[in-house]
Amino acid sequence: MKHLSLEKRPEEIAVLTIDCAESSVNTLSSALFAEAEQLLDTLEADRSLKGLVIISAKENCFVAGADLNELQSLVHEAEFQAFIARGNALLKRISGWEKPVVCAIHGNCLGCGLELALAADYRMASDETATVFAFPEVTLGLMPAAGGTHRLPRLIGLPEALPLMLTGKQVRIKKARKLGLVDAVVARYSLKHAAVQAALKLAEGGMTQPKKRRRTLVNRLLDSGSLGRSLVFKQAEKAVHQQTRGLYPAPAAILDSVRHGYAHGVEAGGKEDIVRFGQLGVTPAARSLITLFSAMNSRKTSPYQAKPVEVKKLGILGAGLMGHGIAGVSTDLAETTLLKDRTLEAAAKGAQEVMRGLDKRCRTGAITSFERDAFFARVIPCTDYAAFKNTDLVVEAVFEDLELKRSMLKDVEEVASEATIFASNTSSLPISAIAERASRPENVIGMHYFSPVHRMPLLEIITTDKTADWVTATAFDVGIRQGKTCIVVKDGPGFYTTRIFSIMMNEVMLLLEEGVAPHALDEAMTRFGFPVGPVTLVDEVGIDVGVHVAGVMRPHCEARNIQGATLLDRLYTKGFLGRKSGKGFYDYTKGKKKGQRRLNSDFSNLIVARPSKHEDMEELQHRVSHMMINEAIICLQEGVIASAEDGDLGAILGLGFPPFLGGPFRYADAMGPSTMLEQLETLEKQHGPRFKPADLLREKAESGTGFYD
Ligand SMILES: NC(=O)c1ccc[n+]([C@@H]2O[C@H](COP(=O)([O-])OP(=O)(O)OC[C@H]3O[C@@H](n4cnc5c(N)ncnc54)[C@H](O)[C@@H]3O)[C@@H](O)[C@H]2O)c1
Repeated sequence: MKHLSLEKRPEEIAVLTIDCAESSVNTLSSALFAEAEQLLDTLEADRSLKGLVIISAKENCFVAGADLNELQSLVHEAEFQAFIARGNALLKRISGWEKPVVCAIHGNCLGCGLELALAADYRMASDETATVFAFPEVTLGLMPAAGGTHRLPRLIGLPEALPLMLTGKQVRIKKARKLGLVDAVVARYSLKHAAVQAALKLAEGGMTQPKKRRRTLVNRLLDSGSLGRSLVFKQAEKAVHQQTRGLYPAPAAILDSVRHGYAHGVEAGGKEDIVRFGQLGVTPAARSLITLFSAMNSRKTSPYQAKPVEVKKLGILGAGLMGHGIAGVSTDLAETTLLKDRTLEAAAKGAQEVMRGLDKRCRTGAITSFERDAFFARVIPCTDYAAFKNTDLVVEAVFEDLELKRSMLKDVEEVASEATIFASNTSSLPISAIAERASRPENVIGMHYFSPVHRMPLLEIITTDKTADWVTATAFDVGIRQGKTCIVVKDGPGFYTTRIFSIMMNEVMLLLEEGVAPHALDEAMTRFGFPVGPVTLVDEVGIDVGVHVAGVMRPHCEARNIQGATLLDRLYTKGFLGRKSGKGFYDYTKGKKKGQRRLNSDFSNLIVARPSKHEDMEELQHRVSHMMINEAIICLQEGVIASAEDGDLGAILGLGFPPFLGGPFRYADAMGPSTMLEQLETLEKQHGPRFKPADLLREKAESGTGFYD
């Protein structure tokens, strides 16, 4: 057997060990189901057996979920249904076995892995931070369908179970214990032994039923009858609609399935799950999300041959929003992180922010209090370069000012060693311009993080034609160790993400100049699937930042005949900087009106056009999104990005392009390059040369191929 092994202990307890071959994690696949079916036959036939323990042999993984490669290979609804029906039947057999089954869990217990644990009679888990429970199916456009949708609410209560299934939220050991998701917590080294003893005790009646946790009175009331439950379902439905705007089918399917289970029983609910799983599996949303997830997974190993430098000493220049954010994701990476600012007060403030982040991780159980203190001790606030001599990597995150960044590079070259890498976190300035006077330009690279750094998953690495391979390999390795998904792009104004974003934003500003209402644009683009409307976003980021980026991008726009909007400059001149100054496009000094943010009353004076006579939502969506997509295709054509996949990852993970659409390139492929070409040609006729379709798009349309094979 390749994935499972069985050992019969002297206590007459069988121990089934999951250890998927050729993989660092365990996943449930048809091959594993086949082995498990065979083993269950053996177990059921053995009358001397008293019970079963299921455990994993992997380092930090019980079961990470279903095998994504297999899911990606499935095409038809029936294939998805057959896959999950087999898993469902297997877990039903485990749950229905008359002898006690104990799951001994250490590490990731996700998706089907959690469903397996729920099918057992008793769950024992290690007390380590690596032990994590979650139902991430919803983030893949799918649902738990091997019985978990019914077992979880019955174990921990409907009000607590729904958020876990609907958001994919992770639960660490302390919370899992509190929820009643696990029955016992033990030290990792004693997990197997303790699980065997628990199975024996359960078999011999020494431990009849696992102790139930105490639930709050409100939760008990809400879960005690159809009236309470219908209230919970209604609230969940409302929250789901607010969050997904009906664009993601999985959460609604999960709610329907759970409701069906309560109305018609677990058996009928299970059958319904299988049908829905098949329906969800073939939706474009699930396809896009599964592909996105596996693309992110594939970047957990570096593609570079060159050996990365191990970054033991990291220097960060600027302890502001980005500087302390980068320091915060580097605490388990470097042995020392120097956080330098102009004053000790500013540097210490940045370090305090790092502590706040560590504290939060400690509270959720992601790290221990010992780790929190040890990690914090590695962060050293400073104001000079005295300790920079042996830094392996210095990341600058000072103000977005070319001369300032050049002078930081000069300082670092003077004080650090020959091998020190200098990375800039600039969001728009060309790295080659920063490195223009560098004495070691091969050591210079861009590492563009996104805000907030601890939450945004992308690291855009920018190389110039002089950047050495080992430097790129190091930046990639650092990104992986910081938990980021990396894309490597070529240098230029705005690189990839800022470039396509600013071109899109220019169109947003032109539409506003034409008299389209900010609310209409925000509504159109959130309905398209962006998490935040573009006008709100400019207000949040800051109109001054927008003006600066537009200035950097101006020569590029002029060269491409892209008419530049001037609205941001007008707001900036009037002192409207967005939320930070109280007013931007919207007014933040007053409350909302009918749930909508109030418009800045001076805004209409800055617009010469009359309010738009028609605000056709689809037209707005096309004008805004097509500008971004066409620019992304031009970036691929120019070699700024190396592949369509890089382009999709960058847009989704860095800019919030709707994940269920798969990114600009998958979206263009799904629409069909020839349709996109036609639509751009129409827009070009209506609005001018900025909509001129990319040559590469024309090529794809004419050859009948797509951006992906
Ligand atoms: N804020 C974002 O969303 C974002 C996203 C990506 C990239 N960036 C880029 O990151 C950089 C920093 O942005 P931020 O938002 O953190 O700015 P910030 O204003 O919050 O922080 C800048 C910090 O640099 C410090 N500083 C200035 N001159 C210095 C010097 N000579 N020595 C040491 N420290 C000095 C300032 O005191 C300040 O603490 C900019 O280049 C920006 O374009 C910002």
